[in-house]
Amino acid sequence: MTSTDAFIVASAQGDYRLDSFDRLDALLAEIARIDGAIVVADERVAELYRDAFAALGDIPVYRLPATEREKTLAGVERVMLSMQAAGAGKRSVVVGIGGGIVQDVATLAAHLWFRGIEFVFVPTTLLAMADSCIGAKSAVNLGAFKNQIGTFHSPSRVLMCHRFVATLSDDDVRSGYGEMVKLAIIDSAARFAELERDVEAGGFRGPRLDRHIRASLETKRRIIEVDEYERDLRRVLNYGHTFGHALESVTDNAVPHGLAVAWGVDVANFIAMRNGYFAEAGYAQVHRFLAAAFALRPAAAYGAAGLLKAIRRDKKAASGSVNLILPYGCGDVRVVSTAIDAKLEAHIDAYLRTGDIFAR
Ligand SMILES: NC(=O)c1ccc[n+]([C@@H]2O[C@H](COP(=O)([O-])OP(=O)(O)OC[C@H]3O[C@@H](n4cnc5c(N)ncnc54)[C@H](O)[C@@H]3O)[C@@H](O)[C@H]2O)c1
Ligand SMILES: [Zn+2]
Repeated sequence: MTSTDAFIVASAQGDYRLDSFDRLDALLAEIARIDGAIVVADERVAELYRDAFAALGDIPVYRLPATEREKTLAGVERVMLSMQAAGAGKRSVVVGIGGGIVQDVATLAAHLWFRGIEFVFVPTTLLAMADSCIGAKSAVNLGAFKNQIGTFHSPSRVLMCHRFVATLSDDDVRSGYGEMVKLAIIDSAARFAELERDVEAGGFRGPRLDRHIRASLETKRRIIEVDEYERDLRRVLNYGHTFGHALESVTDNAVPHGLAVAWGVDVANFIAMRNGYFAEAGYAQVHRFLAAAFALRPAAAYGAAGLLKAIRRDKKAASGSVNLILPYGCGDVRVVSTAIDAKLEAHIDAYLRTGDIFAR
């Protein structure tokens, strides 16, 4: 991608564009040109890219540790106190540089500051580049509950540079692919086959990574432009997340988000197959890919009952049922209201017995 490839997202809060930069210095120079910029940067990114950050000159930079502990109202308050100390006003522009954690915290700070100022986002993780950077969502944790409070506040711009991928850990790259696989299956059988083929041929950092980031964003854009506020269609983007969140919860967030989503996609597919919605061959094809590429590890010390308990606690589980997002085929993923009962527990138990599950 180059900066000439404009990608526009229509939003009720104002359309916004995503620009891609081939070089980091061009990206930092663009930030330096933003009037009233105040940067909230992932602490690790600010350190790794210290030389490039020098181009920001005297723009204030708040360094945020990318931890779930910081993704709280207290973390947002720390950002806003630094904005206060830096003399930020109504015309300031919060520029978040980092992954999903920086995005969630900085978006909420921008949303609350004088009832809402501009937010520009620079995604530096693959997950943020291929998925979270568009869609306007932000959420922080409250007490023991992840992502319980938040807002929709769309960015005014997204500035992207794929070079940030070079310093990501393999787990963080794999985590980004978790959401990308989710989006590919939501899109179509052809998209999933293309992703599978390219990863098998060139690995997760292969030459067609840019193409897959773009394709993922196109799929997500198609959905959020129809249902920005998740009243209906957008719920399909939670595919893999009911079980993924449960895995994050029982492992105390030891599994990176996107890896948990990849696992959650596999569990959802298994249940869809057992219910007769998803063909066995479809389940087997995706499972083979996930098990090989994501290195699903041997069974862990948690069972179906613990996962169900976490699901019941999850905000998406109303009373005795849960809206599962299940595939009827690649390109046909639907919301299915499902009772949280012995039958569901038996399905999860049967899945866990297949042996290929995450353990940390
Ligand atoms: N708002 C949304 O729409 C949305 C969507 C999905 C996930 N999320 C949230 O995002 C969070 C996960 O975000 P994430 O996976 O992007 O990662 P992250 O923000 O948690 O960062 C992961 C790790 O990568 C490091 N890092 C970031 N960029 C780097 C780079 N270029 N080089 C080296 N290290 C780098 C960070 O310091 C951190 O250690 C979760 O809290 C999840 O709930 C939000
Ligand atoms: Zn997610």
